Amino acid sequence: MILQAQQIRKEFIRESRGTNCFQAVQETNLTLSGGTLTILMGRSGSGKSTLLNMLAGLLEPTSGKILLDGTDLYGLPDKELSRLRNQKIGVIPQGQTALHSLNVLENILLPCTLYGETVENSAVMELLERLEIAGLQTAMPSELSGGELRRMAIARALIRKPDILLADEPTSDLDDVNTAVVFNILKQFASEGKSVFVVTHENDAGKYADRLFHMDGGILRTGDESGNC
Ligand SMILES: Nc1ncnc2c1ncn2[C@@H]1O[C@H](COP(=O)(O)OP(=O)(O)OP(=O)(O)O)[C@@H](O)[C@H]1O
Ligand SMILES: [Mg+2]
Repeated sequence: MILQAQQIRKEFIRESRGTNCFQAVQETNLTLSGGTLTILMGRSGSGKSTLLNMLAGLLEPTSGKILLDGTDLYGLPDKELSRLRNQKIGVIPQGQTALHSLNVLENILLPCTLYGETVENSAVMELLERLEIAGLQTAMPSELSGGELRRMAIARALIRKPDILLADEPTSDLDDVNTAVVFNILKQFASEGKSVFVVTHENDAGKYADRLFHMDGGILRTGDESGNC
């Protein structure tokens, strides 16, 4: 499955900046294909989350298109876009997104519950074991460490077996050991054919990347500055 950004741009209207129009992401082309771990680094405010959210079908670009295997995501009616996005694209948003009134398993199954779907128990167990949180199913999020919460968020993004996984700062609150665990898991999913796109501040994340990009003032550059995306 191929996710393609074609000449996308995002402008925000912000009076506090003194000018009405602010370009968070300048015209960008990017193709994400299966079997690849793509890493995006860059300073705070450079436009990384804005780009990821546009790729995820969560934020409509000001101009340009996002194509999922040729289908123009934002050309779809809202309901269809939500369904396709939930089926094909797993998102790990920036920050903590656990619902604190639900236990770990309920949090992970939420995308299925919303669509009235059931998942084979064995498939759930396999995913939880892989992420080493199988023993925490009935725990509440408040009882989990930062690393466990992150792995719960990864499980939730993967529960519907998406072909594409987009992760925004998935290791922001983790120590070095847990950071390596999370990156190795993401790398493994990519090696199994998924397209994995990770936004991160981790300085040494480049070592996990098949493709490395930097964002600077809304401009996407390749790691080697060749300009080839
Ligand atoms: N909804 C919005 N309205 C107005 N401006 C916004 C909005 N969302 C983001 N911005 C601005 O766009 C710029 C890029 O934001 P973005 O969240 O993409 O940065 P980022 O690179 O992800 O930063 P960080 O590393 O801190 O998460 C910032 O200057 C931000 O203030
Ligand atoms: Mg961000």
